[in-house]
Amino acid sequence: MEKIIKKLTETYGPSGREDRIREVIKEEVSGLADEIRTDYLGNLIVLKKGTASEETRPVMLAAHMDEIGLMVTHIDKDGFLRFTNVGGVGPSRLVGARVVLPSGKKGVVFHEQLKELKELDLEKMYIDIGAENQDEARKHVTIGDIAIYDQPMVSLGNRLVAKAMDDRIGCAVLISALKELKNNHNDVYFVFTSQEEVGIRGARTSAYGLNPGLGIAVDVTMTGDTPEAKKMDVKLGGGAAIKVKDSSLITSPLVKDMMVEIAEKANIKYQLEVLARGGTDAGAIHLTREGVLAGCISIPCRYVHSPAEMVDLRDVEAAVALLGKILEEKIDF
Ligand code: CO
Ligand code: ZN
Repeated sequence: MEKIIKKLTETYGPSGREDRIREVIKEEVSGLADEIRTDYLGNLIVLKKGTASEETRPVMLAAHMDEIGLMVTHIDKDGFLRFTNVGGVGPSRLVGARVVLPSGKKGVVFHEQLKELKELDLEKMYIDIGAENQDEARKHVTIGDIAIYDQPMVSLGNRLVAKAMDDRIGCAVLISALKELKNNHNDVYFVFTSQEEVGIRGARTSAYGLNPGLGIAVDVTMTGDTPEAKKMDVKLGGGAAIKVKDSSLITSPLVKDMMVEIAEKANIKYQLEVLARGGTDAGAIHLTREGVLAGCISIPCRYVHSPAEMVDLRDVEAAVALLGKILEEKIDF
């Protein structure tokens, strides 16, 4: 598990530029699926056929491949790069962060001289790639390139730290579930979605196309277990989190209760998640066509959208187990 998480989190793939991470995932799932295709939004759609009759609607699983990033907007005469955010990038999480451009060129993020820290804003920040002037910088970067955090994964025992755990950890869960899946009743589409971080775009179009009877997103959620954290009943090591609500979805009791029952019956450690702010692919899936039942299995994660997102391997294993048990069921709502 650790090996695949390392590979996935360290691969380049900001929103709209998922080609490299898509290739890595495609390689992992090849030979396990009945059909693999990529659509126009860049979603990777992987089908594992079930034993049910043709009329039974499929189950759609979604984990987003994309990560947040910094898009270059301007290269100044001294070779410093200005940027805009791709997804939820917080200025305080960027100071001193190391980043890498699609060319492989690395850099660091810093800010102009400020009178007060509260002036810190993306517009006052820049990427320094070590270039001495604009011409030198232009050899490594063009306007519109997206830089991402440059951080190898590290293991702290049960806990792993990496950039882009959001949501490569969800991709890892889907890949593991696919590897272990046999005798599934419903057809199952494993969708590695694009452009979640910029407004849940890939899941929206793929859900429309697949018209599933049930959608399940696997994504990270915040925790309330750090010093002076906002009160939240999710913690690292507390098990797979079954989503009750976030800003994009109020999980249907049909789906939430089914997940809870299955977890209880199979003795899988779980916790209930109410996330005050944030959304996942499930938010787009459940608003598809005339409405689709959808839920979300979340992986508790500290420091979301920082270069040091932390998850607990035991929660990841619990999520794989829960997803596996759900897929053993005959799902026909
Ligand atoms: Co995110
Ligand atoms: Zn996410």
